[in-house]
Amino acid sequence: MTVEHDVRDLSQAPGGRYRIEWAERDMPVLRQIRERFAKERPLEGVRMSACLHITTETANLMRTLQAGGADVVLTASNPLSTQDDVAASLVSHFEIPVYGIKGEDNSTYYDHIKAALDHKPQVTMDDGADLVSELHKNRTDLLENIIGGTEETTTGVIRLRAMAKDGALKFPVIAVNDSMTKHLFDNRYGTGQSTIDGIIRATNVLLAGRVVVVGGYGWCSRGIANRARGLGARVIVTEVDPLKALEAVMDGFQVMPMMEAAPIGDVFVSATGDIHVFDRHHFEVMKDGAIVCNSGHFNVEINIPALQELSGQEPRRVRPFVEQFRMPDGRAINLRGEGRLINLAAAEGHPASVMDMSFANQALGAEYMLRNGDTLQAQVYTIPEDVDHEIARLKLAAMGVNIDTLTDEQANYLDQWQEGT
Ligand SMILES: NC(=O)c1ccc[n+]([C@@H]2O[C@H](COP(=O)([O-])OP(=O)(O)OC[C@H]3O[C@@H](n4cnc5c(N)ncnc54)[C@H](O)[C@@H]3O)[C@@H](O)[C@H]2O)c1
Repeated sequence: MTVEHDVRDLSQAPGGRYRIEWAERDMPVLRQIRERFAKERPLEGVRMSACLHITTETANLMRTLQAGGADVVLTASNPLSTQDDVAASLVSHFEIPVYGIKGEDNSTYYDHIKAALDHKPQVTMDDGADLVSELHKNRTDLLENIIGGTEETTTGVIRLRAMAKDGALKFPVIAVNDSMTKHLFDNRYGTGQSTIDGIIRATNVLLAGRVVVVGGYGWCSRGIANRARGLGARVIVTEVDPLKALEAVMDGFQVMPMMEAAPIGDVFVSATGDIHVFDRHHFEVMKDGAIVCNSGHFNVEINIPALQELSGQEPRRVRPFVEQFRMPDGRAINLRGEGRLINLAAAEGHPASVMDMSFANQALGAEYMLRNGDTLQAQVYTIPEDVDHEIARLKLAAMGVNIDTLTDEQANYLDQWQEGT
């Protein structure tokens, strides 16, 4: 009997399985956790609902939770990021209920979230806080079952902290994004590479010699800026935070307000977590053929309604994931992936090697929540530093990299304050 699901086509499962296994080869830390989980079963019988991008890497996280004994269901955390073959394989080969179809409309997206909550989770796992929001807004009847949750991304963590500050959050959540083995690597190297991958796959544009305008110089956006520069683009950074802007200047980027960058840029991409980084007044001065995309969590960084209004006509889908808006003066502005995460809409998201660490944090975060949930308040917590360091140690070992350890003399020296000149 097949487990409950709503996926595109179960006949795609064999291809999905090969790709899940391909990703697994690059996820040695998660594999070690899975082996331990299979022996110790720390999640035995625990009902979990996960709302994550349905990718090959997530599939390996689901297998890890299942090996630990969890009764887990998975729903998409974005209408465009689902890999349909992976969803099919999780259902067919791993008996994990999955709800997600690439390109699903908003109402299907929320029906899927509801289906995942009907599982009556004790632990939630979010990427963007959609499960937590829905639980607090519309499914308060389920709150009493919940031990705690985990949250993958910056935007989700910001929302949870706002909820905790207002006293609205009703259970503890681990901010996986705050682990150093997550944001220093996934956000920077993962988003950096996969965003460029998404831009290139969607347009086949040559970045060398082009002007790429990057909105923000946070962890994700600095990754994008650096990778674009590596491909020969002339990169302009825009920021609102003077420290980040100063870092960008000293890293050798041109920094200016978006309004000055708008008429110069060929490719625009932002990852700020903020709204309308690309707005009406920017579209008014962009060059003919400008390409605009987003790699921040929600599809709000680009003011798409303003773009639509300025154009006054329906966009043309000129390539998969590229919608072209004609302006009344004849200019064309190309929007990618409906303004949704370009790296997941048009490419495959982060490479497995970097998700290895993010999802090691998710798996260990869930275990930590189960062990400690009853002692935690309804607040946002980070994973203990020793766990973070252990993930880094395991990753280095898997990469065959050895490092020094402090001698006793050095440890003593670093611990004391008396010795000076
Ligand atoms: N594409 C992906 O796969 C992926 C992966 C991880 C995180 N994210 C998302 O990317 C976004 C950024 O995450 P992060 O970890 O880099 O956050 P961050 O806080 O490190 O960086 C955000 C930066 O944007 C700047 N900023 C805010 N508003 C701005 C504006 N109007 N103009 C210019 N700069 C502005 C901030 O000053 C900050 O430096 C979040 O929404 C996060 O959830 C996406």
